[in-house]
Formats: sequence, C-alpha cells, structure tokens
Amino acid sequence: ETVEWDPEEAGKGEYDHYMKKEIHEQPTSLAQAIEGRIDPENGRIALADFGPGTFADVSSVQFVACGTSYHAALYGSLSLNQAGVHSTALLANEYSVAAPPVDDETLVVAVTQSGETADTLSALRQARANGAYTVTVTNVVGSTAAREADDALFIRAGPEIGVAATKTFSSQAVMLTLLGQRIAADRRGKPPADLESLLPDLAAMPDEIERVLESSDAASIADRYRGSRSYFFIGRGLGYPVALEGALKFKEITYEHAEGFASGELKHGPLALVTSETPVFAVFTGDEDEKTLKNAEEAQTRGAPLIAVCPDDHPAVEIADAHLEIPDTSAALAGLLANVQLQLVSYHAANFLDRPIDKPRNLAKSVTVE
Ligand code: AGP
Repeated sequence: ETVEWDPEEAGKGEYDHYMKKEIHEQPTSLAQAIEGRIDPENGRIALADFGPGTFADVSSVQFVACGTSYHAALYGSLSLNQAGVHSTALLANEYSVAAPPVDDETLVVAVTQSGETADTLSALRQARANGAYTVTVTNVVGSTAAREADDALFIRAGPEIGVAATKTFSSQAVMLTLLGQRIAADRRGKPPADLESLLPDLAAMPDEIERVLESSDAASIADRYRGSRSYFFIGRGLGYPVALEGALKFKEITYEHAEGFASGELKHGPLALVTSETPVFAVFTGDEDEKTLKNAEEAQTRGAPLIAVCPDDHPAVEIADAHLEIPDTSAALAGLLANVQLQLVSYHAANFLDRPIDKPRNLAKSVTVE
C-alpha cells in the first residue's frame, strides 16, 4: 500500500502552530484512516492488508510502544480485552527486561507514529526473534518498523510536524480498535456482536470531531485554571489511556505538572495531593461512569475544581464546576472525542504561557536512541 502526502500540507497555513493545525485536521485524517476499511451497511471491516483468517490462531496479543503511541496501544489493548481476546500493552522501553513469553500464537503489535523509535524497534526485533507474529501500526510507509515486521498497517494521518502527537493518536486508536475487532472476528469465525453498532458511529466520527472543534470551551477553561499548582486527569476503562494522554500532552507543551490516573487509584494515594489548586479533568466514556463520578466527587470534596468531559445529558454535568462537551457515541469511541477536548485544553494553556508549542524544550519528534 502507498500513501500519498501532499508536500503543501506541511505548511502551517492559517494556523499559528502546527499542533493546532494537526488537531484541526483530525476530521480529515480519521476519514482517511477508515476510508475503504469499514462497511457499515454490511457490518464488516475490510482490512485488505490481511488475508481471511490471518488472526484465527492468535491466542494472545502484546502491544509495544512508547509515549503517546503507548497510550493508543493501551486503548487498543483494553478494547481487545473487552472483545474477549487476551491482550496486554507494554512499554517498549521495558520490554527487554519485562516481556511476557511469546510463541508462534502470540501477535506482537508495534505501535509507532514515526516507525523509527529505537525502544519500539528493539522490542519488535526481540519479539520477532523469539518467534512471535509481528505487525507494525505506523504513519510512515517505508519506516524501519514497517519494513522489519511481518506485516504493516498504515494509519494514513499525513505528516505530523508538531512534536506533540495529536492526529496520529486518534488514527492509531481507531486503527487498533478495528484491528482488534478483526482479530476477535477471526478467532471466533464471526464478527463481534457490537460491531454492527460500532461501525456507523465510527463512520460518523469525523463529523463528531468537527462538532467538538467548532464548539469547544477548552480555551476559556484553560484560562480559568491558569496558574494552578498541578493538573490531574482521571478516567476508567477506555477513559484511562485518554487521561494518561491528556496529562502527557499537558506536561509536554505547558511545562506545568500534570498526572493521569485511573479514577479508582485516586483514593489509593494521589488524593493526598488534591487541593483547590489541582483541577481534576474527569473523562467519562461509559465504562462504569458512576464509579468515576464518585471518585471525582471525592476530589471535589477536598476542594479540587472538577471539569467533566462528557455528553451534555450526563449526570456529571450537574455537579461539575466546568464542562467540556462531547457528542454521544459508542463507548468504544467516546474517549477519542474526549481526547480532542483535552488536546485543545493543553494547546490553549501552553499558548497562554507563550510556550514554543511545536518544539517543546528537551524533546525530539522521533527518539532514535534507547
Ligand atoms: C507525544 O506527544 C510524544 N512526542 C512522544 O511521546 C511520542 O509519542 C513517542 O516518542 C513515540 O513516538 P513514535 O510514535 O514515533 O514511536
């Protein structure tokens, strides 16, 4: 498969920063990712890169990745577990010391935007040498990770110039969700039950993201909580990787302290940090939201401003101090809409602080050393 990139696309155009441009490109980049790969009318996924039954004998899946790609990998892994397939997401930089065993029924999926991250390449090579079936999910055709794996799946996001990964995260998460559904289908010999409702929602995602981009209150919320001591992001299930990603983006480009937690972990330690100067962004994706709401309220009771990222008719809106609205969609996809809101919060917070958003200090777009 080849992916055409228009060199014109690499300019900033009307945007002040590549990051903002890339956040706003998500309706298009996601539409490109799914084009020809889903067939909502017939309830089918069409991943032409993989022949019929490719994954029928896969008994477990390991995802390896770093940074934002790791968060997408965690998203993919959780959704695969929810589809009944044994899977784990592992930090590629820990793989050489902590890899679970693999055999020829293990699928190892390297998730890497650039396809050149040294840690991820080294995990991929180790898995392959030990006999696993390897697939790379990447944005760059011809990258080392794409060439070295048994197979590759391209996310077609187009060039991403900002050091902070944005549009590639949403495309990775969607492609990993599709790959997961396909793996589950191959193993069972029939598509998972919820695929029929997922595909129309997936087809609608580009429009839903557009709605978020057009109506987001992220700038005023970033302004309101300027100067806080620390920023917390919490979520459960598929909301957890989104919380981790929200915090990574925030610290990466604002240089302010931020942390992402599984909602249920707050009470096991981090709650000691919570004060009126630690806004808590709570992501609601439909995975036991009532528990997340309780966890969020515990922080709010200790004085933390609560910002709920959820649909308008969600119970969290009633108690939250601020609201970032996302359209109603499948639980498998809600986190991606929440993530767009959090990308915008980080962007505006960094912009108010006049940070060099596209090139944060000490960071490189692609980390080619271990
Ligand atoms: C994300 O904003 C970062 N710049 C970083 O965490 C990045 O995702 C990581 O270095 C992995 O890169 P890759 O996807 O190219 O492998």
